[in-house]
Parts: sequence; C-alpha cells; structure tokens
Amino acid sequence: MTQTLSLRRPDDMHLHLRDGAILQGILPETTRHFARAIIMPNLVPPVVTAAEATAYRDRILAALPEGAAFEPLMTLYLTEETDPDDVATAAASGLVKAVKLYPAGATTNSASGVRDFDKVRAVLDRMAEIGLPLCVHGEVTTASVDIFDREAVFIDTVLDPLRRRTPGLRVVMEHITTRDGVAYARAQGDDLAATITTHHLIINRNHILVGGIKPHYYCLPVAKREEHRLALRAAATSGEARFFLGTDSAPHVDALKEHACGCAGCFTATNTLPLLAHVFEEEGRLDRLEGFTSLHGAAFYRLPLTEARLTLEKRDAPFTPPAKIHTGAGPVTVFDPGFSVFWHVRD
Ligand code: DOR
Ligand code: ZN
Repeated sequence: MTQTLSLRRPDDMHLHLRDGAILQGILPETTRHFARAIIMPNLVPPVVTAAEATAYRDRILAALPEGAAFEPLMTLYLTEETDPDDVATAAASGLVKAVKLYPAGATTNSASGVRDFDKVRAVLDRMAEIGLPLCVHGEVTTASVDIFDREAVFIDTVLDPLRRRTPGLRVVMEHITTRDGVAYARAQGDDLAATITTHHLIINRNHILVGGIKPHYYCLPVAKREEHRLALRAAATSGEARFFLGTDSAPHVDALKEHACGCAGCFTATNTLPLLAHVFEEEGRLDRLEGFTSLHGAAFYRLPLTEARLTLEKRDAPFTPPAKIHTGAGPVTVFDPGFSVFWHVRD
C-alpha cells in the first residue's frame, strides 16, 4: 500500500524570490507547494519602506502562475535610517509581517544593513510595542571571527544584549546552523523562535569541501560540523513550536554560483517537501512534519492556519526534480541532496 501523508498546505517562513526574470522563473517552484512565504527584502536596492514593499508585492503577484493561490508575506529591510512610523503603519495595514535585520556585510546584498545598533533602537522599541517580529540574520561580520564561529559569537555579543535592551521584542533567529543556536532558542520564552532550512538538515561542511569545492552547497550561514547538523535535525523533529521551516531557498544563476567568488545560497524550493518527508521519516517523526511546515510558523506570526491541504506520497520510484530551473536570467541549479528520495508531492 502506498504510504501517504496529508498536511495543511505549508508556509515557507524565509524565502528569497528576487525580482525580474529570475522571480518569474523560480516563483512557480514555491507556489506549486506553499500557501504563503515570508519574502526576504534583500533586493538591490533593498526593500526598505512600506511603499517599496507594496511595489515589490505587486510585482510578485503579477508574476504568479495562472491560478496559483499564494500569499507573499512582506518584510522590510532594517537600515539605520528606517522610520519607526513607516514600519508601524506598514504593520497596522497588514502589508508587512516582519522586519529583517542584516548585520552590514553579513551576506548577499547586506551592505545597507545595520552597523550601529543604537541607531535602530527607536524602531526596535516600536516593534516590541506592536508585536512585530524581527527576523535576524545571526552572524557577526568581524573579520577576526572565524566564519564557522560567527553564529555562536553573534548570539552572545549581539543577539542576547539586543534582546535584553528591548524587552518584549519578538525575534526569529533565521536559519540557525549550530547546536549553540538550538540551545539558545530553547532557553528563551515564547517571544523567540528559530527557523531551520532544509539544506542544513542534510549537509554538513564536508559536503561543501571534501573531494572538490561544491559551490551549490555554499550558503550563509555556512553549513557546520556534523554534530550541529544532528542538533538541527533533533530540533526540527522535536515537535517544539519554536522551531519551524524557513527554507532560505536563495536562487542565483549558475554563472554566479560557479565562479571564482561564488554567491551564497542553496535553491531548495523545488524539492524541499520531498526532502523534509525523507528527513522526518529517517528520524521516525513523520507525525511531526506538519507542525514544522504548517503549524508552528503560522502560530508565531499570528496568522490563521492554512485551510488547503497537500498530500505527500511515498512511491517505489524516486522523485527526480529537474537539475536546473531555466529562468530568463539563466539556469538555477536545484539543490541535490546526494541520495534518492521516494517521497513525492501528489499533483
Ligand atoms: O545563503 C544565503 N543566501 N544566505 C543569505 O543570508 C542570503 C541568501 C541570498 O540572498 O542569496
Ligand atoms: Zn536568507
């Protein structure tokens, strides 16, 4: 008998859609399976104001495939010039569901991010008042800190002091990659949550570096040692409401990934759900997949649960996604887990 699993239609609580031809090309990969997604604002130039978020949302809606039922949940990119009133108005209207903090220089298109945290104090205070979540890219950018330590150092030297200075601020630790991140999240109250990507449940740093450098496994925060991957798998499959899916699916065309200075990002929108079913089955926790993909994130963001459903089906034949998605901007390579996956999303 075919094994099936029915879920409320998932939410991707951390997604990069980009703009223009690449947006048009990759958007169906998300809308095929997901009901909603928290859309990252790190365009060039970034999405800073409510007016820019409205315009970006309209471009996403215009690019939707025929008949797709998909709601983009917009975010604003926090800069040292962000106006607290603009943020509050955008939140009150329902347009914006979160503000994104990139430490300046931490990752792709983060040059306009925050250098001096005192300069964003008023915005953070206002967000705490109105309950608007701050999504945090949790890595320090200090040149002397080893890239594999940047998340743990950020938690101690930036995140924890920032949360103490702004009590009540609701925070999402985005794409945690370490057992330190898991442990910190677990020790906090319900004003803190953490997203976990699909790829960080599958790869460790050896996948990037052993046997030749694999640019399609390079992302930020970079994958860490195996012990950290195991901690992430335990957290994702724990059933704890503070952990939920944010794929960080981050398309870059192959020419920019397979490059002397390759861009960070794994593109997982196409195969995330089959991969997660595989991982949760390996952990003996298929019963907790729906919480991770469809319940916990909605609860944290105070959104109604999705009503539509999606069925996963385990078949004898493997699910083989296209190796690349061909966009008007060029091909984008789909994340290859390096093993066969037998879970399919039923059409
Ligand atoms: O790998 C990543 N890619 N990490 C990020 O934080 C940004 C993202 C992107 O925009 O490409
Ligand atoms: Zn991201």
